[in-house]
Amino acid sequence: MSIKTVATTPFTDQKPGTSGLRKKVTAFQAAHYLENFVQAIFDTIDAPAGSTLVLGGDGRYYNREAIQVILKMAAANGFGKVLVGQGGILSTPAASAVIRKYATYGGIILSASHNPGGPDGDFGIKYNTANGGPAPEKITEAIYARSKELTSYKLIEAPDVALDQPGVFTMGEMKVEVIDPVADYAELMESLFDFAAIRTMLSGGFRLCFDAMHAVTGPYAREILEKRLGAPADSVINGVPLTDFGGGHPDPNLTYAPELVAIMYGAEAPDFGAASDGDGDRNMILGRRFFVNPSDSLAIIAANAALAPGYAAGLAGVARSMPTSAAADLVAAKLGIPCYETPTGWKFFGNLMDAGKVTLCGEESFGTGSSHVREKDGLWAVLFWLNILASRRQSVEDIVLRHWAEYGRNVYSRHDHEGLPSAAANALMDHLKDRFAKLPGQRFGSYQVKFCDDFSYTDPIDGSLSTGQGLRIGFEDGSRIVYRLSGTGTEGATLRIYLEAFEPDSARHGEDAQQALAELIGIANELSELKQRTGRDKPTVIT
Ligand code: G6P
Ligand code: ZN
Repeated sequence: MSIKTVATTPFTDQKPGTSGLRKKVTAFQAAHYLENFVQAIFDTIDAPAGSTLVLGGDGRYYNREAIQVILKMAAANGFGKVLVGQGGILSTPAASAVIRKYATYGGIILSASHNPGGPDGDFGIKYNTANGGPAPEKITEAIYARSKELTSYKLIEAPDVALDQPGVFTMGEMKVEVIDPVADYAELMESLFDFAAIRTMLSGGFRLCFDAMHAVTGPYAREILEKRLGAPADSVINGVPLTDFGGGHPDPNLTYAPELVAIMYGAEAPDFGAASDGDGDRNMILGRRFFVNPSDSLAIIAANAALAPGYAAGLAGVARSMPTSAAADLVAAKLGIPCYETPTGWKFFGNLMDAGKVTLCGEESFGTGSSHVREKDGLWAVLFWLNILASRRQSVEDIVLRHWAEYGRNVYSRHDHEGLPSAAANALMDHLKDRFAKLPGQRFGSYQVKFCDDFSYTDPIDGSLSTGQGLRIGFEDGSRIVYRLSGTGTEGATLRIYLEAFEPDSARHGEDAQQALAELIGIANELSELKQRTGRDKPTVIT
């Protein structure tokens, strides 16, 4: 086996964001760019010789090329075996499941999640550790530090491995096992949910529509929903993964999944609709002409968890990210279990799950999951809802309205202002922070400020401190405004404004969230001087 050492100069911009390193495809195609980052990962994790790695991605443009490069580098860096998804495909939750099932040293996932793909789109790469979860900040920081100093990388000279059929191949002295990307994951889902009950519901005429958005979940949804559960063959739409996601923006929300939204709000709407994102970890849940807010979805899953066989023994606790509504907190209180509030980013749930403190986790950003893997999991959430529907025999809307009647409604919305100049976005955040000292006690219309802070979090397991995680303004009646800059974009800055108000009165639960939150939205825009500073007065995406 001939190992080649290639001299390079380090890059200065390989700092992983909320979920790995994400850049334009063109950036990754620059000479040595991908290789430098991969070498930084390998140098940092320092896996013992002969270790096993999992490798796969969401199938976006450049996935296949990157996989061949990474295989050759893994062989040169002493790995004994790499498990690769057939065709280079592994959804993010499936990669996590495979890392855990085969107890591998870790895994590399190629994805820019919900960001558009194609030659002009985005690409991304992240490292997951042996627990199956995204590497914690101390590792991503070390990878970044290493990326700024390394002067060479190693790879072997070998022909590409054929990835289109399962089988075991060799590359140099390393084994490459091409695995079915769906099988292990589907088996895990069957162990958690009542497939028989869902099958019975589907054969009784219950109709569903799952939009795979031409991204990675197509093959997973077809196998699980259509083949194993018996949903009719046209239940999965946009089910063929394409390298550019068919030109779409594979983010399951009301703006970027217009085809599904049209179906679910149309005259012939099925009973249940759902979509997942580029790499399969996000989910959107819809009923017939009804949107389930992700914060509510987490709370409803928590309240109904015992209906699913995998969770019948009860939940250890739940966790949500800070900007996620407090709906889950109310359920946790009733169940008598703890509810943790973490910064945005799935990686913050890992320690809590590893320590057995929480079973369910969720984020307002369309992420829900549990300790069955260490990533959020789109199809898992879909199956959980189907399990709940099969056992309660009520509509999605009924289930949500009954939940609100029992717990009160945390009326919630997120306003995204995308593509802002970074300087303006940073100045807006600074301006808010400057106002903070004087805000408590001030009254704005019917709201009086109780507190404001810049959210920070001390991990209860390892004691690590994360600061600057979002600006919060809390009001006396429990309402909240949160401002945060997105950590996942690749162009300019995205300002997210999260709005939440508690409504105990079920007579008002049918109200549209934008209407119910109108006054708070006005206050949020005014306090931040949004219009003056950014020229915007309307969000680009409303959730
Ligand atoms: C990724 C992470 C999520 C996180 C989200 C936040 O999807 O996996 O855990 O909630 O990014 O994105 P943002 O753009 O708000 O930083
Ligand atoms: Zn994703």
